[in-house]
Amino acid sequence: MDAPQSPRSADLFEPLRIESLALRNRVIKTATYEGMVVDGLPSELLKRHHVALARGGVAMTTVAYCAVSPEGRTFANQLVMRHESVAALRALTDAVHREGAAVMLQLGHCGGFSKNTELSIRGPLGPSPGFNAYGALVGRPVVRAMSPADIERTTADFVRAAQRAIEAGFDAIELHLGHGYLLSQFLSPRLNRRRDGYGGPLPHRLRFPLDVVRRVRAGLGSRVPIFAKMNLDDGVRDGLHVDEAVLVAQALEEAGTSALVLSGGLVSHSALYLLRGERPLRQMIAVEPSWLQKLALFAFGPFFVPKTPFTPLFFLPLAKQVRAAVRMPLVYVGGATSLDDLVRVRDEGFELVALGRALLADPDLIRRYATGQATRSACSPCNQCIAEMDRPGGVVCAQQPAQLARRSDEVRAGLHLRVCS
Ligand SMILES: Cc1cc2nc3c(=O)[nH]c(=O)nc-3n(C[C@H](O)[C@H](O)[C@H](O)COP(=O)(O)O)c2cc1C
Repeated sequence: MDAPQSPRSADLFEPLRIESLALRNRVIKTATYEGMVVDGLPSELLKRHHVALARGGVAMTTVAYCAVSPEGRTFANQLVMRHESVAALRALTDAVHREGAAVMLQLGHCGGFSKNTELSIRGPLGPSPGFNAYGALVGRPVVRAMSPADIERTTADFVRAAQRAIEAGFDAIELHLGHGYLLSQFLSPRLNRRRDGYGGPLPHRLRFPLDVVRRVRAGLGSRVPIFAKMNLDDGVRDGLHVDEAVLVAQALEEAGTSALVLSGGLVSHSALYLLRGERPLRQMIAVEPSWLQKLALFAFGPFFVPKTPFTPLFFLPLAKQVRAAVRMPLVYVGGATSLDDLVRVRDEGFELVALGRALLADPDLIRRYATGQATRSACSPCNQCIAEMDRPGGVVCAQQPAQLARRSDEVRAGLHLRVCS
């Protein structure tokens, strides 16, 4: 990459090592669900998407939400780690490495937040019994509480999925402990109302997530980087707030996590809290295949997705509280778009900064920042990418006609149906 523009931005382009992971600079692409999956396997388009990001200058790109088991999918056609995934994912990781970037896989389990109709079990499982609004209209309205045996089985699923990810050539894994998915459901006092050793006071709510981290660490050895994405705040009343998030971060550091990605919000209750900006309800209704769901979104969407204005670096005040409490490398995420934002994050002591929407709008952004060809992102944020990820061919920036045209061509050529090789 060419020499950076100024001494302050130069700091962004310093390399960093985290255990066995060598990063060429301080900017990573955070997980944004791509919608580029064929029968649970990565498609050719998923590979191209991450190769473009790698070519565009990020140090590491993150393949989003891969379920650790079939029950861990939020909907049926989502990446799920199984034996056959390894070869297809290996083709993707090899292609990213050829562009000089590292690649991380986000591993998650949806818990009680699911509209997956292909479950082998009776319905979604979470920390506590409850109503699953997300799956209600597809016949999955009830969440059942996990038994200790369910928790043990799921912990083992995380370990096996992490081992397969490393076998497939990923440089790091990211455990999803945020956004209201299973491990975040256990951490959240709003969603976890158990009265056994897995619920109640924070040390009990931490037990399952920490067991996962420790067992994954034991399964991968001491040199493999384990990132964890966690909430600074659930963004809802009675949820997890930053005072507890600081303790969660310290416990994760102690348990052997290599780096934390600091985010927030529950997709089920406060989806825009983790994004901020426009509410693309019209576009979300347009891509929804079921008329009943369309109607429900039209009627209840404004209530379920409250308006949340965008401000640059919207998680910075909360993230700084974690920065002051741990020594491990931290990844800042949330509203970092301009070159100045990125520099500010580094100045505040965060080792890495992660970008989502700005890199969807322009996968080349970091190369252009590094070479002085740009200082700002084109992302508004309109958040229409949230709806775009559900269209055939997967996520694009709705404001970029060239991306929309390319996706149409790729779908016409059937690339969205071809497993990555
Ligand atoms: C289209 C889209 C899909 C997303 N999918 C995921 C996901 O699969 N996993 C995840 O942890 N976060 C997901 N997010 C949240 C992002 O990782 C990130 O936390 C958020 O976009 C804020 O960062 P930004 O301001 O740089 O976009 C998604 C965001 C968008 C816009």
